[in-house]
Amino acid sequence: MLDIPVMRSALAEKYDLAPSTQLAESMNDIYSRMDRVISPVDWAIYAPYVAAINKLKKEKDAVILAHNYMTPDIYHGVSDFVGDSLQLAIKATEVQEQVIVQCGVHFMAETSKILNPAKTVLIPDSEAGCSLAESITAEGVAEMRAKYPGAPVVSYVNTTAEVKAASDICCTSANAVQIVDAMESDTVIMTPDQYLAQNVANLSKKKVVFWEGSCIVHELYTADDLRAYREYEPDIKIIAHPECTPDVVAEADFTGSTSGIVGWIHEHKPQKAMLVTECSMASNIADELPEVEFSKPCNMCPYMKKITLEKILWSLHTMQEEVVVDLEVAAKARLAVERMIDLSKKLGL
Ligand code: 13P
Ligand code: SF4
Repeated sequence: MLDIPVMRSALAEKYDLAPSTQLAESMNDIYSRMDRVISPVDWAIYAPYVAAINKLKKEKDAVILAHNYMTPDIYHGVSDFVGDSLQLAIKATEVQEQVIVQCGVHFMAETSKILNPAKTVLIPDSEAGCSLAESITAEGVAEMRAKYPGAPVVSYVNTTAEVKAASDICCTSANAVQIVDAMESDTVIMTPDQYLAQNVANLSKKKVVFWEGSCIVHELYTADDLRAYREYEPDIKIIAHPECTPDVVAEADFTGSTSGIVGWIHEHKPQKAMLVTECSMASNIADELPEVEFSKPCNMCPYMKKITLEKILWSLHTMQEEVVVDLEVAAKARLAVERMIDLSKKLGL
């Protein structure tokens, strides 16, 4: 576990992290990507961290892969690549750098390690978990197999390496329907997200049976809340993530992965939009889309928010926390992740 006071005093000794208006102004090219959502005062505080991280990244031959739920200072300030879980997994197979700093949650860092056993994969806070990944173990997968003999197991990437290793193939919110439909069997087991599974079942030809995990961020939204918004703002476009309940998805104008959501908003540019997903999503795209007014019924992912500029700098400084996956588990898990990537590419996803 990170000792925050120790981290802070060690960083203060080594780097000049005092707020600086002068430095902030000299980094206006970066600030201009987030100036609608970050005040100049905050930018003067963040700029020294952003400068130190970007310098250290080069010195350590590191690349930062960041999820769409990172805060704007991380998303726009220090990331080399941003995306949804599928894009991050694919990118992890392509990077040249020896070190990957995963700005996202632990299962994402594990996926990068599974795909790159010879590289160093760092996560700035190893306590950045996920309620879905915590909801099932490899024994749970075995239970499902015993209950539905012969049915293939499609596991969401929001799972541990052990669960992936016990699965036939992985999926993400960007490809779940197509992966399930590509299975030969009539019945398909999906783990661990019950709502993603039900949303897939509504669009798939297959009988989908599922584990009863859920995302603590997306399960909070209700269809009643969305109807209330629509009553108040009849023109609003409601865009949801498929980890929401089927009732919520039924109320939405579009449902997709985090990058699917960004793509839809860019394509349609609605005057008013409500993103039924994690808080940072709308902030991250606010500058690119000044014509869109976002309503933020903000549910924050406490795990994603464990990743901060300060912890990224510390991670690069100390080369900690290194993500380690047992080699035998990683080899089996890699099969499930690579099957997903290959099938997604074949299907043009
Ligand atoms: P995406 O794959 O859509 O980015 O979703 C990941 C996630 O954790 C959403 O809660
Ligand atoms: Fe997990 Fe939900 Fe957080 Fe995504 S938003 S990382 S699914 S807890």
